Amino acid sequence: MEQLDFDVAIVGSGLAGLRTAIEIMRKDGGRGKVRVALISKIYLMRSHSVSAEGGTSAVLFPEEGDSFELYAWDTIKGSDFLADQDAVWRFVHLATQEIRLIERWGVPWNRREDGRIEQRWFGGLSFPRATYAQDKTGFFEMRALYDTLLKYEGWERFDENFVTSVVIENNQFKGFTTIDLRSGNMRFFRAKAGVIATGGAGQLYRITSTAASSTGDGYGIAYNAGLYLKDMEFVQFHPTGLVPKGLLITEAARGEGAYLVNRDGERFMKRYAPSKMELAPRDIVSRAIMTEINEGRGVRDEASGLDHVWLDMRHLGKEKIERKLPFIREIGLKYLGIDIVDQPLPVRPTVHYNMGGVHTDINGNVQSPSGPVRGLWAAGEAACVSVQGSNRLGSNGTNECLVYGYIVGNEVYNYISNERPEPQSASPSVLEAEERRIFSEVLGRESGGEDVYELRDELKDTMEKNVHVYRNEAGLAEAVKKIKELKQRYKNIRLSDRGRVFNYNLQHALELGFMLDEAEVIATGALLRKESRGAHARIDYPNRDDANWLKHTLAVKGPDGPQFSYIPVKITMWKPVARVY
Ligand code: FUM
Repeated sequence: MEQLDFDVAIVGSGLAGLRTAIEIMRKDGGRGKVRVALISKIYLMRSHSVSAEGGTSAVLFPEEGDSFELYAWDTIKGSDFLADQDAVWRFVHLATQEIRLIERWGVPWNRREDGRIEQRWFGGLSFPRATYAQDKTGFFEMRALYDTLLKYEGWERFDENFVTSVVIENNQFKGFTTIDLRSGNMRFFRAKAGVIATGGAGQLYRITSTAASSTGDGYGIAYNAGLYLKDMEFVQFHPTGLVPKGLLITEAARGEGAYLVNRDGERFMKRYAPSKMELAPRDIVSRAIMTEINEGRGVRDEASGLDHVWLDMRHLGKEKIERKLPFIREIGLKYLGIDIVDQPLPVRPTVHYNMGGVHTDINGNVQSPSGPVRGLWAAGEAACVSVQGSNRLGSNGTNECLVYGYIVGNEVYNYISNERPEPQSASPSVLEAEERRIFSEVLGRESGGEDVYELRDELKDTMEKNVHVYRNEAGLAEAVKKIKELKQRYKNIRLSDRGRVFNYNLQHALELGFMLDEAEVIATGALLRKESRGAHARIDYPNRDDANWLKHTLAVKGPDGPQFSYIPVKITMWKPVARVY
């Protein structure tokens, strides 16, 4: 296996990966002393972060009534009290610096008439603190970060390198193995420090706002390396996915005043969150929409057979729509031929985000059953610190990437320059075993007839049916059983493309292996958690149960599936109270 030596290897080139790389470069003072590999399975600017639309929260205007306390409270209440409060407190403070910084790097924030930055409402906020660039915020943020990174020397880009494993021996990070998709050969990125910034796993579901690349590879490599995944049962459904595919219709539409109406034309949110209406947190709005649909007040889309409600923006007027939601207008026109100026859009909940992820401490350092992993960090959606708890507020995702990119970049730089770790070679047998697994056991398998895409479809159907907005014992048990069956069948997959160069069939097979592990952790964790909290709504356990379940879930790979344990939530400021909006 080809070995490439770096000081730092970052997998994932979205906002979290880029921000981490920039911070390392900044600390290095542009001297190019710390050498960073930025590894991504896709072309850098295709990272899913470019799809973020509505905004990035931060406290910018305390003189107008916002405050760090208010922001922390919104986030913690939004999380249904599962967020670690020390982490949230640090996060809300650092978000302000990030907004100012990336403005200097080129993000064209929308402005008020007097030139000050404009912010907008998002769900669950007590102050309109979502800072935005039209409804293409993620794209502008990615562009500014990438432009900034280009000013530095010392980093190298490895697009189209699919990560297959993280190599850890004796709790020491050694590097990542990848397949270079262009040649089909394997590489070992040996590095003194590693960062997992691979985003989430929305592709476990059929209806999702996420890119085809969002297969949670970081969760997969961590889990298979014996690391903890935390709080994976909490999967966020964004309330307004465009029917039928689930494309994101930004929450900013509701922030700007859009209504949700059922088949009778009723603004039904008044029955679920009378004070916040359409701007309740996402878990609440998604449940409200599914209840409307389940109780027969949805609208049938005849072409897809999917039920939905309407998102009505007509009263906003063309001028406001063009200034603040041009992309949503474009999406309506291009995908459905609907102009939101004149007609409402059909929407239903769509899988959007994973609150859970690779278990880290407050500094992003990855944790294993043997303690902190020396030299390994995680950031962004791939990580679970936990800032988001059991439900992330809209506009708190991109800033987690920025804030934790900053934190982890600092941690990594300090580790490299203060602790001066030596490069660590991996045992040859470990690398050989990985090569054998991929080339002999997956690519070269002659027997078996299971098709990758059929298994993937069955997995998506199971998750869609049984691990959705509302869950129950029977459905979750059925999902776990089905996933175990799929895992058995996965051992018999046979690829139709047996070549090496750009073998996406192989990539999809390896992604599917990760996805099956992730799905098993999610569904089993959800089955075990006998309460309703945030995005985890059990119809058989409809209440939050702080006495028994105010704790984080940890899952680690065992011989027959995930093994679970629990750790306390850090409550430093606010005791949990009833969550009413
Ligand atoms: O609705 C949105 O624009 C999504 C934002 C987010 O997930 O933070």
